[in-house]
Amino acid sequence: MLETKLGSLRLANPVLSASGTYGSGWEGRTFSDLSRVGGLVSKTVTLRPRHGNPPPRIWETASGMLNSIGLENKGVEWFLADTLPKMRTLGPKLIINIGGETLAEFVQLAELFCSAGIDALEVNLSCPNVQEGKLLFSTDPRMTERTVAAVKRVANVPVFAKLSPNVTDITPIARAAEQGGADGITAINTLIGMAVDWRKQKPVLSRGIGGLSGPAIKPVALRMVHEVAKCVRIPIIGVGGARTAEDVLEFLCAGASAVEIGTASFVDPAVFVGIVDDLERLLTEVGSSVGAMSRSMLRNLPQPPPMHGRQAELPR
Ligand code: FUM
Repeated sequence: MLETKLGSLRLANPVLSASGTYGSGWEGRTFSDLSRVGGLVSKTVTLRPRHGNPPPRIWETASGMLNSIGLENKGVEWFLADTLPKMRTLGPKLIINIGGETLAEFVQLAELFCSAGIDALEVNLSCPNVQEGKLLFSTDPRMTERTVAAVKRVANVPVFAKLSPNVTDITPIARAAEQGGADGITAINTLIGMAVDWRKQKPVLSRGIGGLSGPAIKPVALRMVHEVAKCVRIPIIGVGGARTAEDVLEFLCAGASAVEIGTASFVDPAVFVGIVDDLERLLTEVGSSVGAMSRSMLRNLPQPPPMHGRQAELPR
């Protein structure tokens, strides 16, 4: 009833952790039985260690959170030696999120992880918290397509492209990721925002801006998942403000096949397993399944009327 598929990756249920919000999963292992979660998505791993941005770099907002971590991590060498073996003991499918400053770095990371043995790669094309837009590949369809294609050439596992909402129209970028061979799209990363300290008359976060996550962005994420679902054939991982089983079901209906839970785990680090239990209960109540719910709103879309020889009306 809860099973779902992301390309060739089968998940026991559609509940995943969101990159950057739950470490590697290892840090949360004492709060619940993580083997019951569909999958764990790691914090972004880069080739070299990164200190990230100076503090303050996290700020609670009404119904959400701003972060400007700046991709702090100890680099791939450390991750492969220390973190990945620990993640393997937790049980769920492992999706490793990678971030490169160049195409070559993405390829190198993909090669290293694929030879280490993981279940899928999530390519972070959308971190808003690094200098001068470096790593923000997903505001440009050509860069998105080229990066995904380069990673796909070396990957032996499904590749998901994580896209930015900070664009006028996400659909050409989603199509570019599909064109590059992505097995799925993760939508969406955080929305760029700002908090202001009026007493100091300056921004709260050291970098000035940060990425907004949490329930405040759920309606935006649902809208973007739905837009993407209407324009690509590959599966979508929905992310943005989900914190309950009902939220997960909303994302599934809008077009997702799985859903990442992020900021909610700051409030309740055992949130994932609770959602899995509630999903099972709700779907039993209505006699449905994750498969039947997924993309259901697309099946219900009104079909355009037949042309019957009429001329298509062009906008004036
Ligand atoms: O700043 C950060 O580490 C966030 C990364 C992201 O949103 O992809």
